[in-house]
Amino acid sequence: MPEIQINKNVLNVKESATLAINQKAKYLKSKGKDIYHWGFGQSPFPIPQAIQEELKNRVSHKEYLPTLGLEELRKTVADYYSQEFSFPVNPENIFIGPGSKELIFQLLYLLEGKVIIPAPSWVSYGPQIDLKGDVGSILLTQRKNDYKVQPQELDDHCKKLKSVQKILILNSPSNPTGQVYSDDELAELAIVLRKHKVLVISDEIYGQINFEHQRSTSLSRFYPERTIVTGGLSKAHSAGGYRLGYMIIPHQISEIISPLKAMISETFSAVAAPIQYAAIKAWDKSPEVIQEVKIYTKIHKACGHYFYERLKAMNIDSPKPQGAFYLFISFDYYKKELSKLGIKTSLDLCNYLLENYQIAVLPGEDFYYPKESLTARAAFVDYDGAKVLEAAKKSKQIDKYFVEENCLQIKNGLDQLEKFLHSLSSTK
Ligand SMILES: Cc1ncc(COP(=O)(O)O)c(C=O)c1O
Repeated sequence: MPEIQINKNVLNVKESATLAINQKAKYLKSKGKDIYHWGFGQSPFPIPQAIQEELKNRVSHKEYLPTLGLEELRKTVADYYSQEFSFPVNPENIFIGPGSKELIFQLLYLLEGKVIIPAPSWVSYGPQIDLKGDVGSILLTQRKNDYKVQPQELDDHCKKLKSVQKILILNSPSNPTGQVYSDDELAELAIVLRKHKVLVISDEIYGQINFEHQRSTSLSRFYPERTIVTGGLSKAHSAGGYRLGYMIIPHQISEIISPLKAMISETFSAVAAPIQYAAIKAWDKSPEVIQEVKIYTKIHKACGHYFYERLKAMNIDSPKPQGAFYLFISFDYYKKELSKLGIKTSLDLCNYLLENYQIAVLPGEDFYYPKESLTARAAFVDYDGAKVLEAAKKSKQIDKYFVEENCLQIKNGLDQLEKFLHSLSSTK
């Protein structure tokens, strides 16, 4: 028997390929290699000035804050959400936590039942479920549906799970696909969700990075009674390191508030006080912050669309991104040629691209998509955000020419990818 005995549920969680690829990319970079780092999903922009200033002003706040979170912040989030979606949100139903990731974990830990994970989905949902000694139930979505869950598929899946309590995690805009569910799509899903009384975690962390609207719609508009919304500062406000997220519990299931409060008070207690004060500035509708987020989103859109068009010209398939900063790309067109190089899985593909072409992307299999699908996630945020932001403020147009001129890692990386694909075509 090993000397130190470790919780088996934790040992079951393996180091992900994502981490390994990111570490390999870092190592190659330290050896002086120029890496096109499309593996890391972090917003590159500075945090909006008003949020930074407020953090400085509040640095002396040293008190523990309430378990639910600072009242003024919860009220601001409640008002923001009520105004965006025209329905009342009670601040008493909002939790503030150290990132939405931790809040999702606490919630998954609390709830009994089977968790449905649409594939492809974010890498951390699965391990979070593993940590409590369970496994997620994967619902495979199709490329022809832009990797979105279809009502019929959901209905069939729920029937298979029989009478256990069901929890669906729905992420829109999506990491890894950049797709956004429309009102109509959510309304149709709501019919099935209601039929099976499914609890939903609506992960809206990219909600404010939408290429057509100021904010993406929410399932809570169509299925308010069982939709738990999560969001935070990390993506649109570029403040992942501040570690601040929120969770909105609908009043219809308010019985989960008290046990959740108990869990939180016995674990992380509360988010750092100065950060909570600063976060108010993110959602209090201050025009400067709205304007900053708008420019960031414009740049994401230009990069995403540029990336998409170039990939399309190379026969690399992907739905056109509508939000967030990712593309879920498929090399299926080159399957035969890739197979001759010994590339049979999405991980083989990512290792090959990194080792031979210095391109870091993450394997589709880490996002629960089948290994043999030859898919990968590419993040289009590999540039110096502060510099690009300055250029954008001076530029008349933020378009493909802007990207070619200012986001060289994206342009050059795509040139590099093109070289690789040409080399494959010559063996066709
Ligand atoms: C889909 C998705 N959900 C949740 C999170 C967690 O965000 P945070 O814990 O920073 O709020 C991330 C971060 O990468 C994400 O991509």
